[in-house]
Order: sequence, then C-alpha cells, then structure tokens
Amino acid sequence: MTTSSGLRLPGLLPELEVVRKDFPILERVLAGGQPLVYLDSANTSQKPQVVIDAMVDHLERHNANIARAMHQLGAESTAAFEEARDKVARFLNARSRNEVIFTKNATEALNLLARTIELGPGDNVVITEMEHHSNIVSWQLACERSGAELRWFGLTDDGQLDLSNADQLVDDNTKVVAFTWVSNMLGTINPVADLAARAKAAGAVSVIDASQAAPQLVVDVQAVVCDFLVFTGHKVCGPTGIGVLWGREELLNELPPFHGGGEMIETVTMARSTYAKAPHRFEAGTPPIVEAVGLGAAVEYLGHLGLDAVHAHEQAITGYALEGLATVPGLTVLGPTDATQRGGAISFELDGVHPHDIAQVLDSRGVAVRAGHHCAKPAHARYGVQSSTRMSSYLYTTPGEIDALVEALEYTRSYFKLGS
Ligand code: ALA
Repeated sequence: MTTSSGLRLPGLLPELEVVRKDFPILERVLAGGQPLVYLDSANTSQKPQVVIDAMVDHLERHNANIARAMHQLGAESTAAFEEARDKVARFLNARSRNEVIFTKNATEALNLLARTIELGPGDNVVITEMEHHSNIVSWQLACERSGAELRWFGLTDDGQLDLSNADQLVDDNTKVVAFTWVSNMLGTINPVADLAARAKAAGAVSVIDASQAAPQLVVDVQAVVCDFLVFTGHKVCGPTGIGVLWGREELLNELPPFHGGGEMIETVTMARSTYAKAPHRFEAGTPPIVEAVGLGAAVEYLGHLGLDAVHAHEQAITGYALEGLATVPGLTVLGPTDATQRGGAISFELDGVHPHDIAQVLDSRGVAVRAGHHCAKPAHARYGVQSSTRMSSYLYTTPGEIDALVEALEYTRSYFKLGS
C-alpha cells in the first residue's frame, strides 16, 4: 500500500486491500457517485463479513432463547452464547469466563458499576476531565445519591492527563478511580496501569473505559492489573446492542445485583430472593444473544489480524493524517500531535467554519466524519471550544483515504472562501 506521494508507510497492515474486502460496506458508492471514505470508526466501526455471516447463520439455523429451552435449538443457542463469552474472555486475557458480563453497551456497564459499588458520605470517586459522558454522568448520579464527593484529574495544555496532584486527589477515602484508556475526543492514550496501581495503593477500585482502546490496542486485564473494565461491541467490528463488563471475579460476586429478573437468581420465594454468582447475577432477562454471537466473531476476527498489527496500522495512519492535517491552513488539532501517544481519533478545528458545516461539506465529497461535542463536553470546555470535527480511522483505512480527507478540507476552505 502506497500513499499518493508514492511513499510506503511502514506499519500498515499487510494485505490491506484484502482486509478491506472483508468489509462489504467499504464498496459503497454514495449518492452523487462519491466512493465512501469512512472516517467515523471511533463512533462505530464497520463490520466484516464473518460477523454478518455469524449473526445471519445464528438467526437462520440456531435461533432460540438461551438457558431456558429444553430442546436442541435451545442447547445450540446457549452453546453459541457461552462460546462468545469464552472468546471475549480470551480477547481480554481474563482469568475466568465468569468475569465476562454481557451488557447492552459500555454505558450500561459503567452504570452497573456506578449503581452497585457502595459509596457513602465521606467517600470520593476520582474521574478525569477527558471522559465520555457515560463515565461522568453515571458517577455524578452515584455521588448525588450517596453523598460521596466527585473529584477530577485535570488536563495539560497538550491533551495529557495532569497527574501532578494525583497524590492529593486519590487518598484514603477514594473508593473508585475511573478513567478512559483512550480518549474518544483527544485521542490520548492514558497510563492505565499506573492509574490502576494508584487506585489499588489507596484501597480503591479501578474502572477502565476501554471503549476506544479495545478496537486498537492489546487489552490484557491481567497485565494492566485493574479491577473493572468495560467496552462496547460495535466499536470492535461487532454489532450494536452489546457491551462487556469485565471484573475480577471475587469483586463481581461482592456486588449486589443491578437489574432483577429471570436467570439472575438462585432462588425466589414470596419472602425473598437469593442471587446467582457472576456472570448470571448481572444478566437479568433474555440477553442480546445474536449480538453476543456477532461480538464473539468480531473479537476472533481481530485476534486473527493481531491487535499488535492493528495498533501499528492505526499509528501509521494516524501519523500520516496528522502530517496531512498540518498542511491545511487554519486547522488546529486538539490533543497530542505525536502519533505514538494517541489513538486513531483526531478532533480538530478549522478557523472560521462551524464543525457541522465542515462535516456537511466533507460528506458532500463522500468523506464521513463526526462533528459536535462527541459526548465529551468537559474536555471541549477545557480547550475553550464547544465542539469539533473528528476523523477516526481504523484497520481498513488507507493513506489514500487520508489524502481524500485533506483534499476535501482544502475544498471546504475554498467553499467558505477562507484566505491562506
Ligand atoms: N460513539 C461515541 C463517539 O463517537 C462514543 O465517540
């Protein structure tokens, strides 16, 4: 794979054109005859054929409710669902399959924790200014309910976590330290093992939002030595409607249930109920069965490509994108400008043009990006902006698509008659 200037980018996935053929949607030609340039993968990733096929096959041949049906299809469906749990456990290098809870999405997984971890007056929860709203509002609600204090790690001018006051923020009264691994707005990759170790030293639990990390980094929960970690299916080439809460088994079994209902119980009488152990304790009701099957196929697909190779690809494309964006007059990147310190989501401003207008003009050229606050209002406020435009690449992104983005941004500048 070469760039338009004929340079070979080191780090790109070998056989990139073959990998791209795994994703049928990348063949789409948009209205107006524009080929699709999909640069919104931090919002949701595209799906390879193996994921689509696994879900269709399940619905066509094995569909039944799980753990409730005493017939062959029920057994097949249950086996497929539990096999998906095994695949996710391997993807995370979990010690046990019982540590993998299927949720609706990462937001639900974070809310589960914020609802069930016991907090009270005098306790504190420490989060960061670069969190997605799901890792902010869930803890704000928990603190409002319990009387605990919410504390924040701030951000440096260059988009890193400011850990200069970490020893004051995380103290003996800290119960939870919750942080994103990779920022969905700034792209920053955080020192998660260090943060988890700080939490542990203070006697608090660590909660990692790996929604943007799981698609592009090796996520090894034993290597990070954390307590809880969440991610969502649809950003790792899987379907929407499914997320994962991973937790250390003994901690999960100490938490009270989140939702009450079928399959999460041990016994139910009119007087009282007792609860199953994890994972079933947290999977009340009919779970997202076909979504789990799709997620299992997705993490297996990523495993075959190799997360190291996917990460190297993301870094190569991100470096190339940062170089290209730097040539656009009036464009400012928010967050680290060193590709080795960041993930594949790059938010930026273009002087004099509203992000929504930029996204619309780019869309007219076939380039799909996200514009808005990306559910990260405090991070935008920290840098004095309300919103931004964000391009986000993934394992199928080519240097040519980055060239198309840069050209479309030049077109945007001329469209809005911006001087040089
Ligand atoms: N979907 C959200 C984003 O685009 C989380 O960053």
